[in-house]
Amino acid sequence: MDLYSDVLVVGCGVAGMFAALNIDRKYKVMIISKTEACDCNTYLAQGGISKAKNKKDIDLFIEDTMKAGKEKNRLDAVRVLSEESIKNIDILMKFGMEFDKDGDDFDYTREGAHSINRIVHASDVTGKIVFETLFNQVKKRDNITIHEDTVLVDILKYEDICIGGAVIKDGDAYNIHSKFTILASGGIGGLFTNSTNRRGSTGDGIAIALRNKIKVANLNYVQFHPTALYEKDVKNRRFLISESLRGEGAKLINKNNQRFVDELLPRDIVSNSIWQEEKRTDSNFVYLDLSHMEKEFLKNRFPGIYNGCKERGIDITKQPIPVTPVQHYFMGGIDVDLNSKTSMDNLYACGEVSCTGVHGANRLASNSLLEGLVFSRRAALNINKKIGNTSMVNLKERLKIKDAQVTLDSNLKCVLEAFSKVLGEKKNELINS
Ligand code: SIN
Repeated sequence: MDLYSDVLVVGCGVAGMFAALNIDRKYKVMIISKTEACDCNTYLAQGGISKAKNKKDIDLFIEDTMKAGKEKNRLDAVRVLSEESIKNIDILMKFGMEFDKDGDDFDYTREGAHSINRIVHASDVTGKIVFETLFNQVKKRDNITIHEDTVLVDILKYEDICIGGAVIKDGDAYNIHSKFTILASGGIGGLFTNSTNRRGSTGDGIAIALRNKIKVANLNYVQFHPTALYEKDVKNRRFLISESLRGEGAKLINKNNQRFVDELLPRDIVSNSIWQEEKRTDSNFVYLDLSHMEKEFLKNRFPGIYNGCKERGIDITKQPIPVTPVQHYFMGGIDVDLNSKTSMDNLYACGEVSCTGVHGANRLASNSLLEGLVFSRRAALNINKKIGNTSMVNLKERLKIKDAQVTLDSNLKCVLEAFSKVLGEKKNELINS
């Protein structure tokens, strides 16, 4: 079967939906999601969204982002991120997003490597509320349709221009023809044995880029979050214990009750010192100590973590939380310009699958949802400018379902190979390694 849409968006997280909502309403947009729409990593984000507090904070926010990123960031992209943060949070709020307030102002919280409190949040379930806000908007739009359980197998190409995507749905192979395609298919955590990500985040967009010779960047920039809940023999994704708990005062201690690191240093440094401490004390985890924090504050400010831990037998108002670093985020990805355009014509990428260069070698906490907002909107606005002069190309060939399945398998093999080449000793963390 052949389907047609002016714009095809692959992925239903913050970047995919915000891109779709910023495409001019006169154009048809089709969003495909590999799983149920809410099974995206956006939904899991706890900490919040960074934003420059005001115009005066723009430069300091840039400085913090660059320092955390080890100055490997693209400065022009970081400037865009910081300067456009205020406007994008406003747009998100116009779509109905509600952040926690302190009087008339936001209840700004803090996380590692931020010089000041500049993170807006909805308790500790910010991602869930962002997802629901955008999903409600998308469902109201006549020009946008969502197709769940629809897996992108490959892009469609004509003379090296992207003209849509080949997908599998309900055991059938389809071509979706589009004038523009936006990959917002997420990260790579599903390739790791221990990750906070959904198991379905298997780097599909990266694989498709690699196989089609679309430029990628910084495949070795993989972030490990310092504090996932330690659970023995768990095969599912690891439960995140938000950095904002440390921002609000939680301390890291070893099994002998001793502190060993400044909890608010950048993530890579905190993760490394936890690994060292685990080795030194012959343990698989350290603890997050909350004993000095008010019980009611913990329950009200961190209901997601309180309930998530309770379900797993830990009462965070009474006992420390065993934590350990696990894979969390991918700073590399499909190389894009400031409008999220890839090296292939008519193909854009945004969110975790893309590499805008804003994160450098180590993402600053709570900059991921912000990058998703800022750069997906830029993609949409850029497409709006060009789409009137772009026509649909109708590719006659279609993958047979058997070949589509083979291509899916080779996508997985391709990313596992690519990452095992660049990860050094961390390649042991990959599944099938
Ligand atoms: C967290 O809440 O610690 C995660 C937020 C992020 O990944 O930036």
